[in-house]
Amino acid sequence: MTDFSLLGISGALRAESLNRKLIREAGRLSGAVFTEANLNVPLYDGDDEENEGIPTSVQTLSDQIAAADAVVISTPEYNQALSGVLKNALDWVSRTEGNPWQDKPVAILCAAAGRTGGARATYSLRLAMTPFQPHLLTGPEVGIASAFSEFDEQGQLTNPRYVKALSGLMDGLKASAAR
Ligand SMILES: Cc1cc2nc3c(=O)[nH]c(=O)nc-3n(C[C@H](O)[C@H](O)[C@H](O)COP(=O)(O)O)c2cc1C
Repeated sequence: MTDFSLLGISGALRAESLNRKLIREAGRLSGAVFTEANLNVPLYDGDDEENEGIPTSVQTLSDQIAAADAVVISTPEYNQALSGVLKNALDWVSRTEGNPWQDKPVAILCAAAGRTGGARATYSLRLAMTPFQPHLLTGPEVGIASAFSEFDEQGQLTNPRYVKALSGLMDGLKASAAR
Protein backbone atom coordinates (compact mmCIF):
# COMPACT_ATOMS: atom_id res chain seq x y z
CA MET A 1 0.00 0.00 0.00
CA THR A 2 1.56 3.33 -1.01
CA ASP A 3 -0.59 5.98 0.65
CA PHE A 4 -2.04 4.67 3.89
CA SER A 5 -4.95 6.87 4.98
CA LEU A 6 -5.65 7.02 8.69
CA LEU A 7 -8.62 8.72 10.33
CA GLY A 8 -7.99 9.80 13.93
CA ILE A 9 -10.89 10.18 16.33
CA SER A 10 -10.40 11.85 19.69
CA GLY A 11 -13.16 11.20 22.22
CA ALA A 12 -12.42 14.54 23.90
CA LEU A 13 -13.27 17.85 22.26
CA ARG A 14 -10.96 20.29 24.05
CA ALA A 15 -8.18 21.81 21.97
CA GLU A 16 -5.38 20.70 24.32
CA SER A 17 -6.83 17.22 24.78
CA LEU A 18 -4.21 14.56 25.51
CA ASN A 19 -6.25 12.10 23.48
CA ARG A 20 -6.09 14.52 20.54
CA LYS A 21 -2.30 14.61 20.97
CA LEU A 22 -2.25 10.83 21.05
CA ILE A 23 -4.11 10.36 17.76
CA ARG A 24 -1.75 12.91 16.18
CA GLU A 25 1.16 10.84 17.46
CA ALA A 26 -0.46 7.78 15.88
CA GLY A 27 -0.61 9.69 12.61
CA ARG A 28 3.01 10.80 12.87
CA LEU A 29 4.45 7.42 13.85
CA SER A 30 2.45 5.55 11.20
CA GLY A 31 3.58 7.85 8.37
CA ALA A 32 -0.05 7.90 7.24
CA VAL A 33 -1.99 10.48 5.34
CA PHE A 34 -3.75 11.59 8.51
CA THR A 35 -7.18 13.17 8.90
CA GLU A 36 -8.62 14.28 12.22
CA ALA A 37 -12.33 13.75 12.79
CA ASN A 38 -14.56 16.29 14.54
CA LEU A 39 -16.95 14.80 17.10
CA ASN A 40 -18.61 18.14 17.73
CA VAL A 41 -21.95 16.82 16.45
CA PRO A 42 -25.44 17.37 17.92
CA LEU A 43 -26.71 15.21 20.76
CA TYR A 44 -28.66 12.30 19.32
CA ASP A 45 -32.39 13.05 19.43
CA GLY A 46 -34.78 10.77 17.56
CA ASP A 47 -37.18 13.66 16.96
CA ASP A 48 -34.45 15.73 15.28
CA GLU A 49 -33.48 12.73 13.17
CA GLU A 50 -37.07 12.24 12.06
CA ASN A 51 -37.66 15.92 11.31
CA GLU A 52 -34.29 16.96 9.91
CA GLY A 53 -32.50 13.74 8.94
CA ILE A 54 -28.82 13.03 9.47
CA PRO A 55 -26.83 16.18 10.39
CA THR A 56 -24.16 17.17 7.87
CA SER A 57 -21.46 16.85 10.56
CA VAL A 58 -22.51 13.24 11.22
CA GLN A 59 -22.63 12.33 7.53
CA THR A 60 -19.15 13.83 7.10
CA LEU A 61 -17.87 11.68 9.97
CA SER A 62 -19.48 8.55 8.53
CA ASP A 63 -18.00 9.28 5.08
CA GLN A 64 -14.55 9.84 6.60
CA ILE A 65 -14.72 6.48 8.37
CA ALA A 66 -15.80 4.74 5.17
CA ALA A 67 -13.05 6.38 3.11
CA ALA A 68 -10.13 5.72 5.50
CA ASP A 69 -7.93 2.64 5.18
CA ALA A 70 -7.96 2.44 8.97
CA VAL A 71 -9.18 4.33 12.01
CA VAL A 72 -7.54 5.07 15.34
CA ILE A 73 -9.77 6.10 18.24
CA SER A 74 -8.45 7.54 21.48
CA THR A 75 -10.96 7.81 24.28
CA PRO A 76 -10.55 9.68 27.53
CA GLU A 77 -11.51 7.71 30.63
CA TYR A 78 -14.52 9.37 32.22
CA ASN A 79 -15.62 7.60 35.39
CA GLN A 80 -14.10 4.32 34.24
CA ALA A 81 -15.75 4.35 30.82
CA LEU A 82 -15.54 5.91 27.36
CA SER A 83 -16.65 9.53 26.95
CA GLY A 84 -20.24 10.47 26.26
CA VAL A 85 -19.06 12.59 23.33
CA LEU A 86 -17.65 9.47 21.68
CA LYS A 87 -20.65 7.24 22.43
CA ASN A 88 -22.98 9.91 21.06
CA ALA A 89 -20.98 10.08 17.82
CA LEU A 90 -20.94 6.27 17.50
CA ASP A 91 -24.71 6.18 17.95
CA TRP A 92 -25.24 8.88 15.34
CA VAL A 93 -22.97 7.16 12.81
CA SER A 94 -24.94 3.94 13.30
CA ARG A 95 -27.96 5.82 11.93
CA THR A 96 -26.26 6.65 8.62
CA GLU A 97 -26.75 4.60 5.46
CA GLY A 98 -24.68 1.40 5.40
CA ASN A 99 -22.11 0.55 8.03
CA PRO A 100 -18.80 2.38 7.52
CA TRP A 101 -17.17 0.31 10.28
CA GLN A 102 -17.74 -3.11 8.69
CA ASP A 103 -14.36 -4.95 8.61
CA LYS A 104 -12.54 -1.62 9.05
CA PRO A 105 -9.17 -1.98 10.79
CA VAL A 106 -9.53 -0.02 14.05
CA ALA A 107 -7.05 0.58 16.87
CA ILE A 108 -8.12 1.84 20.29
CA LEU A 109 -5.99 4.11 22.47
CA CYS A 110 -6.44 6.00 25.71
CA ALA A 111 -4.67 8.84 27.47
CA ALA A 112 -5.82 9.13 31.05
CA ALA A 113 -4.87 10.94 34.22
CA GLY A 114 -4.97 7.78 36.30
CA ARG A 115 -2.39 5.05 36.84
CA THR A 116 -4.24 2.36 34.85
CA GLY A 117 -3.88 4.19 31.54
CA GLY A 118 -7.63 4.10 31.05
CA ALA A 119 -7.83 0.29 30.85
CA ARG A 120 -11.51 0.32 31.76
CA ALA A 121 -12.32 3.02 29.21
CA THR A 122 -10.66 1.05 26.42
CA TYR A 123 -12.58 -2.09 27.35
CA SER A 124 -15.84 -0.18 27.42
CA LEU A 125 -15.01 1.25 23.99
CA ARG A 126 -14.32 -2.27 22.69
CA LEU A 127 -17.78 -3.30 23.86
CA ALA A 128 -19.34 -0.20 22.32
CA MET A 129 -17.69 -0.97 18.96
CA THR A 130 -18.76 -4.62 18.86
CA PRO A 131 -22.15 -4.06 17.12
CA PHE A 132 -20.41 -2.45 14.14
CA GLN A 133 -18.18 -5.46 13.36
CA PRO A 134 -14.93 -3.62 12.70
CA HIS A 135 -11.60 -5.43 12.66
CA LEU A 136 -10.47 -4.39 16.14
CA LEU A 137 -6.79 -4.87 16.84
CA THR A 138 -6.07 -6.45 20.21
CA GLY A 139 -2.55 -5.18 20.76
CA PRO A 140 -0.07 -3.99 21.63
CA GLU A 141 -2.24 -2.12 24.11
CA VAL A 142 -1.59 1.60 24.30
CA GLY A 143 -2.97 3.20 27.44
CA ILE A 144 -1.05 6.25 28.55
CA ALA A 145 -1.06 6.53 32.35
CA SER A 146 -0.53 9.90 34.09
CA ALA A 147 -0.81 11.26 30.58
CA PHE A 148 -0.47 14.93 31.56
CA SER A 149 3.28 14.38 31.99
CA GLU A 150 3.91 12.13 28.97
CA PHE A 151 3.91 14.66 26.09
CA ASP A 152 6.56 17.28 25.33
CA GLU A 153 5.87 20.83 24.13
CA GLN A 154 5.52 19.65 20.55
CA GLY A 155 2.86 17.19 21.70
CA GLN A 156 5.12 14.18 21.17
CA LEU A 157 5.34 11.19 23.49
CA THR A 158 8.50 11.21 25.59
CA ASN A 159 8.57 7.65 26.92
CA PRO A 160 10.25 5.24 24.43
CA ARG A 161 8.10 2.36 25.71
CA TYR A 162 4.93 4.16 24.66
CA VAL A 163 6.48 5.16 21.33
CA LYS A 164 7.41 1.52 20.68
CA ALA A 165 3.96 0.23 21.62
CA LEU A 166 2.15 2.83 19.51
CA SER A 167 4.47 2.21 16.55
CA GLY A 168 3.81 -1.53 16.85
CA LEU A 169 0.07 -0.97 16.97
CA MET A 170 0.24 1.25 13.87
CA ASP A 171 2.30 -1.41 12.05
CA GLY A 172 -0.45 -3.89 12.86
CA LEU A 173 -3.07 -1.48 11.59
CA LYS A 174 -1.23 -0.98 8.31
CA ALA A 175 -0.76 -4.73 7.87
CA SER A 176 -4.45 -5.28 8.52
CA ALA A 177 -5.42 -2.58 6.02
CA ALA A 178 -3.15 -4.11 3.37
CA ARG A 179 -4.85 -7.50 3.56
C1 LIG B 1 -15.81 13.67 34.10
C2 LIG B 1 -14.41 13.15 34.23
C3 LIG B 1 -14.20 11.87 34.70
C4 LIG B 1 -12.90 11.34 34.80
N1 LIG B 1 -12.72 10.04 35.19
C5 LIG B 1 -11.48 9.49 35.13
C6 LIG B 1 -11.27 8.10 35.37
O1 LIG B 1 -12.19 7.34 35.67
N2 LIG B 1 -10.01 7.60 35.25
C7 LIG B 1 -8.95 8.40 34.91
O2 LIG B 1 -7.83 7.90 34.77
N3 LIG B 1 -9.11 9.73 34.67
C8 LIG B 1 -10.34 10.29 34.75
N4 LIG B 1 -10.53 11.63 34.45
C9 LIG B 1 -9.37 12.45 34.12
C10 LIG B 1 -9.05 12.35 32.61
O3 LIG B 1 -8.33 11.15 32.38
C11 LIG B 1 -8.22 13.54 32.18
O4 LIG B 1 -8.95 14.73 32.41
C12 LIG B 1 -7.82 13.45 30.72
O5 LIG B 1 -6.84 14.42 30.47
C13 LIG B 1 -9.03 13.64 29.81
O6 LIG B 1 -8.67 13.49 28.47
P1 LIG B 1 -8.29 14.73 27.51
O7 LIG B 1 -6.96 15.27 27.99
O8 LIG B 1 -8.17 14.10 26.16
O9 LIG B 1 -9.36 15.78 27.62
C14 LIG B 1 -11.81 12.15 34.40
C15 LIG B 1 -12.04 13.46 33.94
C16 LIG B 1 -13.32 13.95 33.84
C17 LIG B 1 -13.54 15.35 33.28
